[in-house]
Amino acid sequence: MRANVTLEKITALAKRRGFIYPTSEIYGGLGSSYDYGPLGSELLRNIRDLWWRELIHKRTDMIGLDSQILLHPQTWVASGHVDEFNDPLVEDKVTHRRYRADFLLEDWLKKHPQPEQLSVEELDIDRIGELLVKFDIKSPEGNPITEPKKFNIMFETAIGTVTGEKNTLYLRGETAQGIFTNFKQVLDSTRLQLPFGIGQIGKSFRNEITTGQFIFRTLEFEQAEIEYFFDPEKTDWRTLFNNWQQTMWDFVVDHLGISHENLRWRRHTDKERSHYSQETYDLDYIFPFGFKELWGIAYRTDYDLKRHIQFSGRSLEYTDPRTGRNFIPHVIEPAAGINRFLLMVLCDAYREDSENQRTVLSLKPTLAPYKVAVFPLLKNRLELVEKAHSVFDALAGVLPSTWDERGNIGKRYYYQDEIGTPFCVTIDFQTLDDDSVTVRERDSMQQVRIGIGQLLSYLQQHLANG
Ligand code: GAP
Repeated sequence: MRANVTLEKITALAKRRGFIYPTSEIYGGLGSSYDYGPLGSELLRNIRDLWWRELIHKRTDMIGLDSQILLHPQTWVASGHVDEFNDPLVEDKVTHRRYRADFLLEDWLKKHPQPEQLSVEELDIDRIGELLVKFDIKSPEGNPITEPKKFNIMFETAIGTVTGEKNTLYLRGETAQGIFTNFKQVLDSTRLQLPFGIGQIGKSFRNEITTGQFIFRTLEFEQAEIEYFFDPEKTDWRTLFNNWQQTMWDFVVDHLGISHENLRWRRHTDKERSHYSQETYDLDYIFPFGFKELWGIAYRTDYDLKRHIQFSGRSLEYTDPRTGRNFIPHVIEPAAGINRFLLMVLCDAYREDSENQRTVLSLKPTLAPYKVAVFPLLKNRLELVEKAHSVFDALAGVLPSTWDERGNIGKRYYYQDEIGTPFCVTIDFQTLDDDSVTVRERDSMQQVRIGIGQLLSYLQQHLANG
C-alpha cells in the first residue's frame, strides 16, 4: 500500500479535506508557502504538543522557551548567518528565474547516473559549477544558465526609527539563536545545573528557492529545536550525541507511528556540515521524492556561546557549583521541522484499501485531528438528532470530536477514514430503546455495540492502546 503514495495524491487529499491549502490562492498563490486548514492546524498542534510533552514535560533535564522572531541584528552577525547562510543559485539566462544549482545537478544525475558515484551533498560550489558545465545542464525551461553564486537566505526587514532612518532586522533563520542569547538569563532565573536542555518551537524563515516538494521546503516554517548544554570535561559528547539520536528515532517510531524501514541515519560530510558544527547526522525519511532530511542533530561545541561572548562583550559562562570552575558549556542540537513531521505523517499513514474502495489515513490516534465522529442515523428524525447531540456533548468536552449528519452512513465513514478519525459512533433507533450505540473502528472497520454509559471509557481505552 505504501508503494502507491505519491506527492500528487498527498497534495490532493490535503487540499480536498482541508489539511493544507496553497497560500493566498485567490491572488494566484505565493511560491513555497502554504496555509494549514481546519484539519492541518489540528494535526500541527497534535505534533507540537507531542514533541513538547515527550521531550520537555516528561524530562527533568529539559525546559521550554519562547523567544522572538525578530532579534537584535548583531545576533545574526555573531552566529555567522549573515556571512555563511548561503545556497548556491544559478539564473536562467532567458527567463531570469533562479534555481538551486545543487538541485539541478541532483535531478540531472538521477536521470543520467554516472559510473563514479557523485554525491551532490559533498560538493562545494566550484565543483557544482564545473559539473553543470561538464554535463551541459540547462534550466528546467531548457535554457542556458549562469554559473552558481552564493545567495544569502536570511530574510531582511527593517525597523523605522524616530529620525526616519530604517535599521535592518532579520526574520530568524533558526530558533536556536534565541536560546543562546537567553542562556544566561535562563541560568540566572532557574536553578538548573548542567547538563540540561532548552527547547523551543517557533517560526523560522529562509529565502529558499524550491521546486515542487509541497511543504517539505518552504519560506516560512516551524522548527522544534533543542540546545542541550553540557560540561565537555564531565560528559562525553559522543555518548550524549548517541543518546539523543536514540531519543529522536524512538520519538518518530513510537510517537509519530512511522515504520522504521522508512527511516535512516545519514552522516554529513566535512564539506556539507554547517559552519558551526563538528559532527552532524540527519535522520532521513523516505518521502515520495526520496530519502530526505527530517531531523538533524549537530554537535555545535561552544561555537555559538563563544561568538555571542565576543560580539556582546557579556560573560555567558557557567560556574560549576562544586568546584567554582568557570567555562563555556558545549551544546548538542537536535533540530526538527514540525511541517516536515506533518508531511511525513501524512505520507506514512496514507493507505489505499482497494478491496473496500476507500482511502484511509491510518494516523496514530494521538495525532488524528478528531478522535471520534458522532452521527445520527437520519438527520430528519428529531429524536435521533437530539440523542446524538447529547452523546456528542458528552464526548466533545473530553475528546476532540466531530459531527456529521450529511449523506448516508457509508459516505460518512468514507469521509472520516480519509481524514483519519479512529472511531465513528452511530445513534440509531435501537439507541432510543436500549441506550446502546454502534462504534466502528477505522482500520479494521469492525463494529461493536456499546452502552452509552461505557462509551467514553471504551473509546479512551482503545485510543490509548492505538
Ligand atoms: N538550528 C539548526 C538548523 O536550523 P537545519 O537542518 O537547517 O538546522 C532544522 O533545520 C530542521 O528544520 C530541518 O531538519 C527541517 O526539518 C526543518 N527545516 C529547515 N529548513 C526548512 C524549510 N525551508 N522548510 C521546512 N522545514 C525546514
